[in-house]
Amino acid sequence: MVLAAQGPDAGHDGAALRMEAVRVWVPAGTTLLDDITWVVWPGEHWLVLGHNGAGKSTLLSLAAAVRHPSAGRVEVLGQRIGRVDTRELRASIGTVDGSILSRTDPRTSGRDVVLTGVSGTILPLYDRYGPADHARTGELMELLGCAQLADRQLGTCSLGERQRLVLARALMPRPRLLLLDEPMTGLDFPAREALLDALRRLATVQSDLATVLVTHHLEEAPPSTTHALLLGAGRIVAQGPVDETLTDKTVSATYGVPVAVHRRDDRWSAVARPSFFGGAPGPSDPGPPPS
Ligand SMILES: Nc1ncnc2c1ncn2[C@@H]1O[C@H](COP(=O)(O)OP(=O)(O)OP(=O)(O)O)[C@@H](O)[C@H]1O
Ligand SMILES: [Mg+2]
Repeated sequence: MVLAAQGPDAGHDGAALRMEAVRVWVPAGTTLLDDITWVVWPGEHWLVLGHNGAGKSTLLSLAAAVRHPSAGRVEVLGQRIGRVDTRELRASIGTVDGSILSRTDPRTSGRDVVLTGVSGTILPLYDRYGPADHARTGELMELLGCAQLADRQLGTCSLGERQRLVLARALMPRPRLLLLDEPMTGLDFPAREALLDALRRLATVQSDLATVLVTHHLEEAPPSTTHALLLGAGRIVAQGPVDETLTDKTVSATYGVPVAVHRRDDRWSAVARPSFFGGAPGPSDPGPPPS
């Protein structure tokens, strides 16, 4: 199955997301993001890591066209934020975060949670959905391994099942950019692995889709991850192809603790070095990260 994407086309250079010298500050004077220059191309799958309060969700709110930069330039799917109707643009962006679930009536069926992604509404607007929408709902629920939830009430679904429904919903409007803010929080191991596999399959069936996934855990990086961006205190610590970017040095600098990063096949993991806890360096702890 190949899922075609659609959305605004302004004859731009093709970047899914472009930020140049972006800053975000709040009226109190606190700077949340500083000097952010970042480009995401179609088909790239970015992992964004950073400590609590580093600015990850703020970064995603810019990419989702929900927030304007205080300074600098943000272009999403070729549309300059501040110069376009962001409501229209937002229809071309898929977002996965906890807000949809908290606003949805728990009696809503799994099918309707996904179907309402067409209209971007919480309540179903049945007269706006055609046969193609119903067909796509079924296809996506199949793709994401949640077809069995079609007639289940949302309130009876487990956290992992709900996350798959929310991901399917986000894909309904055929987004070219998919933004996921900690989508695996609270999932057990099998549910996390299932969601990771769903993201991997998604990258295969929609090759021009760009994704940005925020997480705290390297273990949650989908095998399809191509790039990584590390944020520390609102600034980019490192960014680039994932192999070059996820290193002991960069991850240690991001979190301010000595970390050992491991890669096995197409999965990553990170552990604090024993010396962080005051223990003697062991075989896996060759000393402080290179400075
Ligand atoms: N309106 C605001 N006024 C003051 N500070 C704010 C405001 N909005 C966000 N912040 C601060 O900006 C920082 C970045 O917030 P953000 O939610 O982007 O962090 P995050 O990296 O997503 O963190 P987490 O991992 O905890 O989700 C935080 O310190 C937060 O308290
Ligand atoms: Mg956050």
